[in-house]
Amino acid sequence: MHDANESRAALGNRALFPELRFDVYANHGSVSPLSEPVQAAVNEVLSAQAREGMGIFPAEVERRERVREQFASLIGATGEDIGLVANTSAGVLAIAHSLPWRRGDRVLVFRGEFPTNVTPWQQAARRLGLELVWMDAEDFRLDRVAAMEQFEQHLAEGIRLVAVSAVQFTTGQLMPLEEMGESCRRHGSELFVDAIQALGIVPLDVKRMGIDYLACGSHKWLMGPEGVGFVYIAPQRTDQLEPNLAAWISHEDAFEFLTGAAETLRYDRPIRRGARMLESGTFNNLGCAGLEASIGLIQSLGVTHIFEHVQAWHDGLEPALQARGFESARMTDPAGRSGILSLQPPDNRAAAEWAGELGERGISCASPAGWLRFTPHWPNPATETERVIRAVDSILHQGH
Ligand SMILES: Cc1ncc(COP(=O)(O)O)c(C=O)c1O
Repeated sequence: MHDANESRAALGNRALFPELRFDVYANHGSVSPLSEPVQAAVNEVLSAQAREGMGIFPAEVERRERVREQFASLIGATGEDIGLVANTSAGVLAIAHSLPWRRGDRVLVFRGEFPTNVTPWQQAARRLGLELVWMDAEDFRLDRVAAMEQFEQHLAEGIRLVAVSAVQFTTGQLMPLEEMGESCRRHGSELFVDAIQALGIVPLDVKRMGIDYLACGSHKWLMGPEGVGFVYIAPQRTDQLEPNLAAWISHEDAFEFLTGAAETLRYDRPIRRGARMLESGTFNNLGCAGLEASIGLIQSLGVTHIFEHVQAWHDGLEPALQARGFESARMTDPAGRSGILSLQPPDNRAAAEWAGELGERGISCASPAGWLRFTPHWPNPATETERVIRAVDSILHQGH
């Protein structure tokens, strides 16, 4: 769609973000800034709806199909296995409330996770009499072998579903999804993955990793506007899901009555099977247009190349900060790395205070749950880490 702009996208080049007010924007793990092509795509839909009203509907339905394919290609799936939803949370909720649970089913969840991937399981447990089994996500960073043994043990004792984030939002640890998926298959458990801290920066493959369900939103590493997300459901799992959240668009031939005769208004149309069953009502076309453009840019650069580019950025910053007494959470094993570089500050200032001081010096980063977190993406030049180091030195010298 935006080929001219795509050809302008280049690793380490911020030209498509002329309005960005920070000298260093290393906060994509929170919310991405919007590039010019993304803004242009959103503005096109705004103008089109201002002009045409309902007339934009057919083109926007077609766009949804293209975005569905984009999502699918990011995870090695097909468009048929993708349902469009509002955000990651909506995706977790959809699966939590559509599975045919039996009272006493056990769900393995992780302390340290972003609450999106805990709260819906807690509520499903309360409503349906499920049991939550807890592990510490941090154990997989500190001693992966021992943690996987414990994981195996839990599965051997009977776990219906494992709910894990691909990348831990605090430490940036990439969880051992392939091993987890393999273990789930052996023990007859199902694997649910929250992928919002991974997609767009970490290559994922649902088939190779044995992922049964995956949910993701738009506004972090996919660099789109907020409010578009998707759910992936593995083809072999679709038949078991119950249409507990179905609404008007969940039916087959859902749009027929909009233009059809009186008898086409029916309530007995079958509910679509699979992920599309979760598409319930009207949709965020503006967000979808922006996201189509931002994923287009990411695909033109290639997720693997973006990952390497971001690792080089981290390689420039991590040792310099360690030399100044920061403690890094980044895994030494590259298989456990992501787009996140998180550190513990060397002094008695909290991470939030550090993030505030850096913000005042033109560097945007985050401080979730006590970690100082840097999340650069494809537009960040590797050279800007020198600027971060200078700012860190000025904060250290200023003292407390
Ligand atoms: C791991 C993780 N899951 C989910 C979310 C957010 O979910 P949603 O897309 O529902 O806002 C975040 C961050 O905001 C996150 O870091």
